[in-house]
Amino acid sequence: MVKAVVAGASGGIGQPLSLLLKLSPYVDELSLYDVVNTPGVAADLSHISSTAKVTGYLPKDDGGKAAMKDADIIVIPAGIPRKPGMTRDDLFNINAGIVKGLIEIAAEVAPKAFLLIISNPVNSTVAIAAEVLKAKGVFNPQKLFGVTTLDIVRAETFVAEIAGKKTGSELTIPVIGGHSGETIVPLFSKISPSVTIPDDKYDALVNRVQFGGDEVVKAKDGAGSATLSMAFAGFRFAEKVLKAAKGEKGLVEPSYVYLPGVPGGEEIAKATGLEYFSVPVELGPNGVEKVTNPLTGITEKEQTLVDACIKGLKDNITKGINFAHNPP
Ligand code: NAI
Repeated sequence: MVKAVVAGASGGIGQPLSLLLKLSPYVDELSLYDVVNTPGVAADLSHISSTAKVTGYLPKDDGGKAAMKDADIIVIPAGIPRKPGMTRDDLFNINAGIVKGLIEIAAEVAPKAFLLIISNPVNSTVAIAAEVLKAKGVFNPQKLFGVTTLDIVRAETFVAEIAGKKTGSELTIPVIGGHSGETIVPLFSKISPSVTIPDDKYDALVNRVQFGGDEVVKAKDGAGSATLSMAFAGFRFAEKVLKAAKGEKGLVEPSYVYLPGVPGGEEIAKATGLEYFSVPVELGPNGVEKVTNPLTGITEKEQTLVDACIKGLKDNITKGINFAHNPP
């Protein structure tokens, strides 16, 4: 029996993500938590004739503990999204506290769950989650993931457009680093099967992958950031984690993880000087089976992108760690 929780289930991402999880054959129980509207969302989804049993919880239901109790996987898209002109870092003050609070609950009632953090700024919120889990003595780095899949999905789509392919879903494109602006590093030299990006299109393509989220924020004109494409991406990653937990092999997807705590991570931590980095993760029954070093054999241009990424990520990570130890 697999229990999946969505924390922030009534939101723009939370609702379509919950819908997709309700349809998944890998979920037996779907528990929806939010500070508003979960009874309605749960009642609505519960009429769908797929197998998962759906329940909805509010803070009055044991402060979130009932929702998360004994969960196998907790996906967190709780928090405020960007409006035009905002960076993901501008969300820090509010979302940092929300993520900290949710992870505290998870640490207590579901210490063995896979934890998938969507709430921005992911570069910092994952570090906050790790510090909370460390303090509670239940940190398992193999089970904590920052969800960066939307960057990969965007890269697949934009590369397919340039390469004249019908779909990008058959392409494997490592997008590494972090999840904001120039910390997002697409490695087009490592696309499989190989695609050649014309020189005159390279810079614009990199920029579009790094700042694709801004296109959505601008088009939504104050109504939020990516929700539907993020729900798709979050679901794709969550279902891979569940498939791997059931024993399926060969499932690889980049994710933002704590390098010193995962097999293969030390080498990348040394190369970058960072504790957190999004790298291709091979998933297994216990979460991260191993990570592979994406930095070997990259082009000069890609190395320049990596250098800028490392600079930005350092500050984001430190900010997260400091917040966890000294919340305002
Ligand atoms: P939204 O505002 O539509 O939904 C957020 C939901 O979180 C709301 O329903 C709200 O009531 C709920 N919430 C607030 N505090 C909570 C708490 N303490 N416990 C439980 N639920 C709580 O926002 P949207 O568009 O769904 O975005 C959510 C987050 O996801 C934002 O931080 C956004 O920046 C981030 N995001 C991340 C992406 C990624 O690639 N990792 C991509 C797009 C958005």
